Amino acid sequence: MGSHLARALLERDCCKVRVVDLSMDKLPEKHERLEKIEASVDDGGVIAEVVSWSDIVVSATAICNPAVYNTDPAAVIQANFTHLEPLVKRCARSGKRLIHFSTCEVYGHPQRSPSGQILPMNEDSTPLTMGPISKERWSYAAAKQLLERLIYGCGRHEGLDYTIVRPFNVIGPRMDYMPGVDGEGTPRVLACFMRALLFREPLRLVDGGRARRAFSYVTDFTDAVVRIIERPSACQRQIINIGCPDNDITIKELAVRLREKYAAMCAVPPSAIVSVSSEEFYGPGYEDVERRIPDIDKARALLDWEPRTPIDEMLGPIIEDYVTRYAPFCPAKS
Ligand code: UGA
Repeated sequence: MGSHLARALLERDCCKVRVVDLSMDKLPEKHERLEKIEASVDDGGVIAEVVSWSDIVVSATAICNPAVYNTDPAAVIQANFTHLEPLVKRCARSGKRLIHFSTCEVYGHPQRSPSGQILPMNEDSTPLTMGPISKERWSYAAAKQLLERLIYGCGRHEGLDYTIVRPFNVIGPRMDYMPGVDGEGTPRVLACFMRALLFREPLRLVDGGRARRAFSYVTDFTDAVVRIIERPSACQRQIINIGCPDNDITIKELAVRLREKYAAMCAVPPSAIVSVSSEEFYGPGYEDVERRIPDIDKARALLDWEPRTPIDEMLGPIIEDYVTRYAPFCPAKS
């Protein structure tokens, strides 16, 4: 998401962009208004330098990979809270504007109406409902929530100028990684499915793929963030959902549509789809979220923004990107 935002800002000719990251391979090689600093946010002095250079700091670092939440919660809490606490405090002390990427996962389980209908998640009224401590899946949401609470507190009591963004299942080209090629473990669902397709393995549906997600496309997301950057007064001290409620589908539907599109684009027979239990897939301590529908009325009102990309329009460019990046590492077609 960070590399997409950097590119969108460079295209607009509005500012200089300094990117701090561990690797720069998703950015243009050279651009006159782009500066790349290969460093980690927790390297000594990095936060102080970043804040002193910038008029606006966009904080996008995170471990946001559900398979790690219950296998290495200490690293998750460190990356999503501990490493970023000094950034928030320094922005507050220095009077710098902070735009922080949080997560839809802070909402936890969805709320229901009295008639049992799942309700859209609203930034300012929906309670945040997580599972018990033994369900370690919530280590990520808890760390992200604590950072949001720190940001909110610094806003109210120390005058921090901030906007918190809650992205809802953003997908697109150049996102996530391919296990066994440029990362290990289990990435988010789309990358898991793409790995299965490219390696001609079955797509695995956790608990039958009955959970639902409202997927949003990365260019719709970056369009919203650019508007947040351009509207400092309207977005000051706001929490804003960015998502696409119309793209709410089951994970099974995603698997079916993706494998059909892939089979058509790559002229291969459709892959198998199998069901696995969540315990088998993620191990103990995982707890799924049944459904997440964003309420985006605030984003519409403050940003004059609308998500534009339906799921079926996203899949082609995503497949094309994965095939370009990873086909050389995959078994040859027989
Ligand atoms: C994740 C992260 O935890 C959040 O940080 C982030 O906000 C969110 O993605 C997001 O993309 O915004 P989640 O939606 O549960 O949360 O992540 P995925 O790993 O993409 O899983 C979605 C669903 O697919 C889950 O029900 C999962 O069990 C299922 N799944 C995953 C499969 O059925 N098969 C797979 O191979 C992988």
